[in-house]
Amino acid sequence: MGRLDERVAIVTGGAGGIGSAVARLLAAEGARVVVADVREDAGAELAAELGGRCRHQRLDVTDEDDWRRTVAEVERELGPVSVLVNNAGIAEWGSMEQQPLASFRRVLDVNLQGPWLGMRAVAPSLRRAGGGVIVNISSLAGLTSYAGIGAYAASKWGLRGLTKTAALELAADGVRVCSVHPGAIRTPMTAGFGDAYTAGQPLPRFGEPEEVARMVLFVIADATFSTGSEFVLDGGILAGQPTVVTSDD
Ligand SMILES: NC(=O)c1ccc[n+]([C@@H]2O[C@H](COP(=O)([O-])OP(=O)(O)OC[C@H]3O[C@@H](n4cnc5c(N)ncnc54)[C@H](O)[C@@H]3O)[C@@H](O)[C@H]2O)c1
Repeated sequence: MGRLDERVAIVTGGAGGIGSAVARLLAAEGARVVVADVREDAGAELAAELGGRCRHQRLDVTDEDDWRRTVAEVERELGPVSVLVNNAGIAEWGSMEQQPLASFRRVLDVNLQGPWLGMRAVAPSLRRAGGGVIVNISSLAGLTSYAGIGAYAASKWGLRGLTKTAALELAADGVRVCSVHPGAIRTPMTAGFGDAYTAGQPLPRFGEPEEVARMVLFVIADATFSTGSEFVLDGGILAGQPTVVTSDD
């Protein structure tokens, strides 16, 4: 018996790196998973791999009509949604002075407005399910920042704040809402980053998508007294500086 038997879960960006690992783990735990992504071939392929209880849904998270259609179709075919993982995201880098406005807006549209639209669209379905869990994939960049990632950091800090508001607004309906904050994870998004990128971390390696998936499952299935909370997996970066301080310094 799985830990999520009969639960209906939408995973946005489910055809990609972290999203596909989340979709696989939730399906392995018995959930009926909707792999919701703009990439139709990869989404359909993964849904087929996951088996009959799972399906692909073409969803652009920035499109309100897409969300309406998705929730209606999922409810009709699988039943009310009890888990939403807002994972779809994009990264476009650039300093504050150099990043074009269109790029800034694109990042905010997908990474912040997307989850906002998703939570609004899914909330009534979560109520019909008698409660549920929303997991928003923020980032280490939603807790701190780096030069050159202004739009991305703004979107992920925003998502962290939105998570807390949603948690407060939906608690009475039995819906928990939490954010997950990964550091550097080995996916297509970080394909161009070499090993030097993580060399200074207390745990000097990239995390794996499956490690994020296990954290997401923990939030859904185990963290039953947590809402509005942040769950960090960052290789120890937020623990501080590895500099050794001695009394001679
Ligand atoms: N990889 C990392 O190091 C890392 C670290 C912290 C947070 N994150 C976050 O984790 C999430 C997943 O990242 P990833 O590394 O797996 O990225 P990825 O690029 O490998 O996958 C992202 C997926 O999202 C989909 N997507 C993009 N725009 C979409 C849209 N408008 N509608 C629907 N789907 C869309 C893509 O098609 C892709 O399948 C993102 O929110 C990202 O910001 C990633």
